[in-house]
Amino acid sequence: MSNLGRTDLRRRGGGEIRMAGLLPHQPPPCIAPAAMADALPRPQVPIVLVGLMGVGKSTVGRRLAERLGLPFVDSDEEIERAAVHTIPEIFDRFGEASFRDGERRVLRRLIEGGPRVIATGGGAFMDAETRALILERCIAVWLEADLMTLAARVALRGGRPLLTGRDPLPFLRELAESRGPFYAEAHLRVLSDSGPQERTVDRIVAALAERAR
Ligand code: S3P
Repeated sequence: MSNLGRTDLRRRGGGEIRMAGLLPHQPPPCIAPAAMADALPRPQVPIVLVGLMGVGKSTVGRRLAERLGLPFVDSDEEIERAAVHTIPEIFDRFGEASFRDGERRVLRRLIEGGPRVIATGGGAFMDAETRALILERCIAVWLEADLMTLAARVALRGGRPLLTGRDPLPFLRELAESRGPFYAEAHLRVLSDSGPQERTVDRIVAALAERAR
């Protein structure tokens, strides 16, 4: 297995998307997931989780970081810390454009901080500058779930200003359509279904191991 250095990353780049967990006919990995994480060389670049709200980026990211022995950061939490306001307050008082500016700056700082697992907010990867930076310097993992799973998960936690006054299901469908082509630029694509989140972590580890081969 090779290390995932930056040069290697660029060489391996080029828009190829590998799917993990999306193809039912694929045989399960024959190495036990925990052993696979041990066998995986420690990533040399940040692993960045992208995908729609409710897909589980923060929960999965935290567990993935533990598995890989890397620090974990949540970009929404970092934005709130930097702004000393919650996300709904930032949207309310300063507007979405201001939130997006902060998001871009915070993500650059997090990416420049070295290898770690970063959970991004659902809209972060829509920003051309952020997306280019992530694709150049990180491994981007698109976490995908079906709309019903997303709708069920967003109902569990508030604090998402884009959902205020909206019916979640049609709005999530719209977002999935408009954002899907951007998420599809991620290096890896992994299913995050309604099953245990550890299974999603297993799939990411397997996809990273495959990429590192
Ligand atoms: C947003 C998603 C949120 C948060 C903000 C905007 C979006 O993060 O960044 O409310 O544009 O989809 P989560 O994806 O963690 O909910």
